[in-house]
Amino acid sequence: MPRRKWEIPEREATDEAVYLNRRKFLRGAGLGTIGLISGCIPDRLLQPTDLLDPKPFLGIEDREPIPPDQWYPAPVNPDFSTLDRPLTDEEIAGLYNNFYEFTTTKEVWKYIDKFEPSPWTVEIAGLVNEPRTWDIDDLVGRMDLEERLYRHRCVEAWSMAIPWTGFPMKALIDQVEPLSSARFVRMTSFFNPSVAPGQWDRPDFPWPYVEGLSMAEATNELTLLVTGIYGHALPTQHGAPLRLVTPWKYGFKGLKSIVRIEFVEEQPATFWNTEAPHEYGFLSNVEPEVPHPRWSQASERFISTSLSSFERRDTLLYNGYEEYVAHLYA
Ligand code: MTE
Repeated sequence: MPRRKWEIPEREATDEAVYLNRRKFLRGAGLGTIGLISGCIPDRLLQPTDLLDPKPFLGIEDREPIPPDQWYPAPVNPDFSTLDRPLTDEEIAGLYNNFYEFTTTKEVWKYIDKFEPSPWTVEIAGLVNEPRTWDIDDLVGRMDLEERLYRHRCVEAWSMAIPWTGFPMKALIDQVEPLSSARFVRMTSFFNPSVAPGQWDRPDFPWPYVEGLSMAEATNELTLLVTGIYGHALPTQHGAPLRLVTPWKYGFKGLKSIVRIEFVEEQPATFWNTEAPHEYGFLSNVEPEVPHPRWSQASERFISTSLSSFERRDTLLYNGYEEYVAHLYA
C-alpha cells in the first residue's frame, strides 16, 4: 500500500533542524501539539510578528477569520498521524454512508443534489455566557484547523479509517463559556424535507437528528468538530458543512450537518435512543464484549479499498482509544 501524503511523519518529510525549530515556534504560539507537513502552514502562522512575539490564544471575537479557500490542507496533528490500518480509499468512503435525512440506503450520494451546505449558520445556545448565531465561515475561519487520522466504527459492525479536518470541540467550548449548570451538550441537525428526501419519506422518524455528549465527553481531547475530509471540505454525504466525530463511540453519535449546539442541564433525548431505546444507548461506546441485541460487536468488517472485499478485524475496546477515554467511564 503506497503511503499517502498525510501518512508521512514530518520527521521524514522535513530536514530535522527545520522540523525542530518549527516545533519550537509552534509551542511558543500555543500550538505545541500540532506538527506540520511541509507546504501546509497556514499564512497566519508565518507572520513575522508571530515569530518574534508569540501571542497567547486570542478570543475568537478578536481573530480575523481565514477565508475557506485557505483552510485545506490543514496541519497534521502528529499525535494522530498514523494508524494500525491503512486509510480507506476516499472514493469508497464517499459511496457508502449513513445519512437518513436523504435515504436509509448506503447510496446517500444519489439523493443529495438539492441540499446546499452554504450559506449555513450554527447557533450556540442554552446555558452559555455567549449565546450567538455564527455564520459557518466566520466561525470556522477563526478556529485552528488540524488533520487527524481516526478509526471510524459504525454500530452496524463495519469500519473505516478516515483523515478528518476540524478543530477540538473543547476549543469552541472554552470560547463560549458554558455556565456551571451545563452538564450536557445537545447537538441538532437540519430539518428540511424539501431538500432531504429521507425526511419526506420517513415522517415516523423523530426528526431532526439530535445527538448529545456529557460535558466531559464534549471537552475530551478526541472530540472533533469536523469541516473537512481527505484534505478538502466535507462533501454532503459526509455531513457538510459541519459534523461531530467521537472516534471511541459508534458512528451514529457523530451527527452530520449541525445547525445548533446547545448547553443543557439534563441528558438530551437523541434520535436513535428515542427511535429504538433498547438498541441504542446514550453512551454507545465501542465495546467488543457488549453485543448489539441483534448481532455481535466482537469483530468488524474493515472497508478499505473495495466495498465487496473487506478484512475482518477484532473490535478494539473504545475503538482503540482507551488511553484517552477509559477514565471517563471508570
Ligand atoms: N447524522 C445525521 N444527521 N443523520 C444520520 O443519519 N448517521 C450516523 C452518523 N451521523 C447520521 C448522522 C451514522 S449511523 C454513521 S455510521 C455516521 O454518520 C456515518 O458517517 P459517514 O457516512 O461519514 O461514514
